[in-house]
Amino acid sequence: MPVKTKRGVPFRTLLVVIVAVAITVVGFFTWLGTTHGFSARAKPSAFEAMMARMMRSMAMPRRAQELKDAYPQLTAAQMKFASEHFAAHCAVCHDNNGDGRTMLGENMYPHPPDMRGLTTQDKSDGDLYFTIRNGIRMSGMPAWGDDTPQETWELVDFIRRLPHLTPAELARMRKYNPKTIFEEPLMPQAGGGMRGVGAR
Ligand code: HEC
Repeated sequence: MPVKTKRGVPFRTLLVVIVAVAITVVGFFTWLGTTHGFSARAKPSAFEAMMARMMRSMAMPRRAQELKDAYPQLTAAQMKFASEHFAAHCAVCHDNNGDGRTMLGENMYPHPPDMRGLTTQDKSDGDLYFTIRNGIRMSGMPAWGDDTPQETWELVDFIRRLPHLTPAELARMRKYNPKTIFEEPLMPQAGGGMRGVGAR
């Protein structure tokens, strides 16, 4: 008679399951080790990026996506303030011009997208508003829920302006970028990111 565990599962079946799980776990980590491990430097594969996008859009409440911009027409002064706000709080990862090519942005996983492109610009105003206020789980994107709703809507309007920023506007923003006591400035080039810092 075959040996059985207390719950009546044949011992042999249990052994096969344990060995199969062990092989899978060892195989997974061997595969990870031969590729790039859990490195944040890697670029997510097309499949992983698609799954992440799909999960994010499924997790976003429909009502949030349909929210209408409460401040669609900013005055020049409001747009100026929004650009300063972005330079002070967002550019360290997203860059002043939104391309995401800063030292932090390029070395986190997933990388921030180039927000001038369709990945971001095709999203609804409500989607961007919700993302800024709630952040994105399991990524470097923090939640900025302590800002006033008006400040967040102004950031949404500024993100819409990213593809059209002038060199003069970018140069102005640099004054509002966080400073460091480290020799190199955090953002050495206008809209050009922090490359070069680690490249010596
Ligand atoms: C510490 C780094 C960091 C900071 C600071 C940061 N972000 Fe992000 N942000 C990210 C990353 C990384 C992603 C991409 C996450 C992903 O794809 O899952 C992201 C994504 C986003 C997105 C979604 C873009 C898209 O196409 O889906 C928006 C909008 C955004 N950030 C706005 C902002 C704003 C506005 C600020 C400042 C108030 C800000 N972020 C500050 C790292 C940051």
